[in-house]
Amino acid sequence: MLTASRSLTEHRFVPATPSDRRSPCPALNALANHGYLPHDGKDIGLWRLIQALRLVYNLSYPLAALLAITGVLLCGHAWCLDLDALAMHNRIEHDASMVHANTQPGHKRAPTLVDPKLLHSFLAQADAHKGLSLADLAKVRIAREARLSRPLDVIHSEVGMGEAALCWLILKEKNGRIPLSTLEQWFGEERIPDAWSRPRDEIGLFEARETADEVASIMGHIKK
Ligand code: HEM
Repeated sequence: MLTASRSLTEHRFVPATPSDRRSPCPALNALANHGYLPHDGKDIGLWRLIQALRLVYNLSYPLAALLAITGVLLCGHAWCLDLDALAMHNRIEHDASMVHANTQPGHKRAPTLVDPKLLHSFLAQADAHKGLSLADLAKVRIAREARLSRPLDVIHSEVGMGEAALCWLILKEKNGRIPLSTLEQWFGEERIPDAWSRPRDEIGLFEARETADEVASIMGHIKK
């Protein structure tokens, strides 16, 4: 059973070794790197995944369950998940990710390691003092999707907007911006950022949907 009181002492950052399984998702990799999920990234039970999403990121039960069940149904085995299975191309994973390169032609899985060039250009969108806003994230999505030879299908385009919305909701400060150091540590090192604290209010399904819609609307306005 995970508890918040145990988390400070037992959940220090231990980077993944080559034998550990990791995904293209910074949120889940950070949970594994801090031992909220099994460090080897293998055979993660549905309940363990839901609990970790709630404990660390303060997702509501319905939102944590929806994300976890989707992941396990599309990429898992017997209600368990290996993190690297999330890289299966075009299940949940898609091209035009913010810090991961596209799946190479003929490959079935996307890269799970962060692409240093993409990370650099992603971080460059953030103001050194003010950080990254939701509109900045929408601009990153437009820039990444514009480089595709074939556009994303509707579902994966929505998934991309959902990821932008979710990371903004969990990482933003009161001013609605994500500090640069938080972006560097969470996206770049896949660790729980030093200056970050768990969202005070639970993040629910409605809020996630509404924020993803806002990303879509900003993208629509910029493209006009
Ligand atoms: C607090 C919860 C979560 C947050 C904030 C979050 C955030 C993100 C972000 C920002 C990305 C994009 C990475 C990039 O563009 O390079 C991503 C990718 C991904 N996430 Fe998560 N995620 C969460 C939970 C989950 C869960 C529960 C699953 C499934 C079990 C999942 C599966 C994926 C997959 C498969 C990708 C790859 C998509 C792609 O190709 O970019 N995520 N996530």
